[in-house]
Amino acid sequence: MILLSSAAAGMDRHYRYQRFVYDLTRRHYLLGRDTLIGGLVPPDGGSVLEIGCGTARNLIHAARRYPDVRLFGIDISAAMLETAGKHVAAAGLAGRIRLAQDDATTFDTEATFGIGRFDRIFISYALSMIPGWHDVLDRAAGGLAPQGSLHVVDFGRCEGLPRLARSALYAWLGWFSVTPRQDLGGVVQATAARHDLDAFFTPLYRGYAAYAVLTRR
Ligand SMILES: C[S@@+](CC[C@H](N)C(=O)[O-])C[C@H]1O[C@@H](n2cnc3c(N)ncnc32)[C@H](O)[C@@H]1O
Repeated sequence: MILLSSAAAGMDRHYRYQRFVYDLTRRHYLLGRDTLIGGLVPPDGGSVLEIGCGTARNLIHAARRYPDVRLFGIDISAAMLETAGKHVAAAGLAGRIRLAQDDATTFDTEATFGIGRFDRIFISYALSMIPGWHDVLDRAAGGLAPQGSLHVVDFGRCEGLPRLARSALYAWLGWFSVTPRQDLGGVVQATAARHDLDAFFTPLYRGYAAYAVLTRR
């Protein structure tokens, strides 16, 4: 709990003011989020969890796209969750989207939501901000229902971009405590193997972003 408090306080400081302009500004550079939402295709009546849900932008888009599912979001930042709650209420989706504070590296959805397994779990641009990101993937993979899938989008290796553009982007991201995970593809494969899942991994936008789907067989 002490660890949750200190990590949570850090994220609260980080997003204290940014959360008010987050959705407007991030739409231009958190690329691939709508690709991820389009690929979720949860079963009717299913459950969808976002880990590191921020302002609930993705949850709201997913709720509109898939009107027959229940959605859940966890985030470590109480400040972000306050903004998320307002957005969900303003969208008229408070009956379908539930939010809770939890640490992605140790989360326990049985305790927070009374649900241990989800049909779809997704993580959008959060792994690059979480030092223990391997644990996040591991816990998420373990939280999949039969035929469930885990979807991830984040910054990529920029392999198709000019070296200068990549250096400038990474330096700028550093100001926001963001570290693109160079070995995301390898860790996704290893996580899939440990949990007996099929893994799909591809760069998007010349490697600006990386997209992965792990599916329970
Ligand atoms: C860049 S934002 C992405 C928000 C949202 N997923 C999106 O795509 O717009 C990263 C989010 O991860 C959350 N976060 C950071 N560390 C976390 C942790 N250890 N556990 C849960 N959430 C965390 C932050 O509070 C923030 O809301």
